[in-house]
Amino acid sequence: MLASKRILLIIGGGIAAYKSLDLIRRIKERGATVTPVLTRAAEEFVTPLSASALAGEKVYRALFDLTDEAEMGHIQLSRSADLIVVAPATADMMGKMAGGLANDLASTLLMATDTPVLCAPAMNVRMWDHPATQRNLEQLQEDGVRFVGPNEGDMACGEYGPGRMSEPLEIVAAIEAQLADGPLKGKRILVTSGPTHEPIDPVRYIANRSSGAQGTALARALSALGAEVVFVTGPADVPPPQGVQVVHVETAQQMSNAVDAALPVDAGVFAAAVADWHVAGASDRKLKKSRDGLPSLAFSENPDILKRVSHMEQGRPALVVGFAAETNDVLENATAKRDRKGCDWIVANDVSPATGIMGGSENAVVLISSSGAEEWPRMGKDAVADRLAQKIAEALAG
Ligand code: CTP
Repeated sequence: MLASKRILLIIGGGIAAYKSLDLIRRIKERGATVTPVLTRAAEEFVTPLSASALAGEKVYRALFDLTDEAEMGHIQLSRSADLIVVAPATADMMGKMAGGLANDLASTLLMATDTPVLCAPAMNVRMWDHPATQRNLEQLQEDGVRFVGPNEGDMACGEYGPGRMSEPLEIVAAIEAQLADGPLKGKRILVTSGPTHEPIDPVRYIANRSSGAQGTALARALSALGAEVVFVTGPADVPPPQGVQVVHVETAQQMSNAVDAALPVDAGVFAAAVADWHVAGASDRKLKKSRDGLPSLAFSENPDILKRVSHMEQGRPALVVGFAAETNDVLENATAKRDRKGCDWIVANDVSPATGIMGGSENAVVLISSSGAEEWPRMGKDAVADRLAQKIAEALAG
């Protein structure tokens, strides 16, 4: 339910705008008020009258409207909402947002606000895949903008692929998750996830088999309990969760920097499989078999992010959770690792190939804390994530 929540709905100019009319109804059914803002291009697809009639509210359109400014200036309009939803978020709108442009009412509202923003992109598949859009997406995710969709399917332009706007009920679910009043509401939690890639030269790197599945499930579970999640991820196999701030990194050093930038947080969960070493003096040109002969690689140690954060004298998160991927003597190794790293909890698991855990969908963990070891039965990574998120909520409440 969204009782008494206020949603500012920015409707961009794309064919998917017709779904935004239904979205208005669905949001209103759940008890929220919707104030629609139409871009000029949106008016080519839906009329201000339909949006206003469905919302039961005035529709805002032009930036320099004297009556609107007298009644409620654009700054006030952008800040009085609990959430700004941009649906459809066109390629043009995403470009403006990422670039910080403010040349119409919608883009000005987005620049002037400190209210969380949720985007539901919709565009042609080629436009979605275009490097410019993907770059803008990453920038916006880093800026804290949340995303729902796009979905894959047949498109109005006759092509097939990702680019369809999420269905109104999916967008409503993302809005509800965003405004959830769970036990972690008001808590900011950092999650690291996925492998890191350590370059050898511009085309080769050293990596590991982490898929990012467990970290992704955790971020999703924490967000569902109402936490504001900053998700710092290496190049993972699974897509990042929707509705959280995503920071993409490649190397351990970049992950370390991104973690610093995310602090302060109430809890840090370090699920990433961080490479312990990087190649010292990685080549900035491709190593050639004919010219360079057999390469010999020298390694340097990477920053130990978990250890560093655990030992922070100032700004240490109230709860620091590490993971221990072990192939033998799991309990002993993980207990020693908890002491060595200085974290509060260690989630230990056996990643020897026979378990099928690394890269698989299940996990069997032992949670090690100051009060001892708690063995959990083997279960799906989503279930492990839910249980751990619940435990984190209890710890932060206590
Ligand atoms: N970790 C980290 N930074 C690193 C290495 C590891 O933050 N440079 C974190 C991982 O995210 C994980 C925990 O430390 O939460 C343990 O990672 P693991 O690779 O199992 O530990 P190592 O430090 O590599 O210890 P060992 O080599 O003894 O297994």
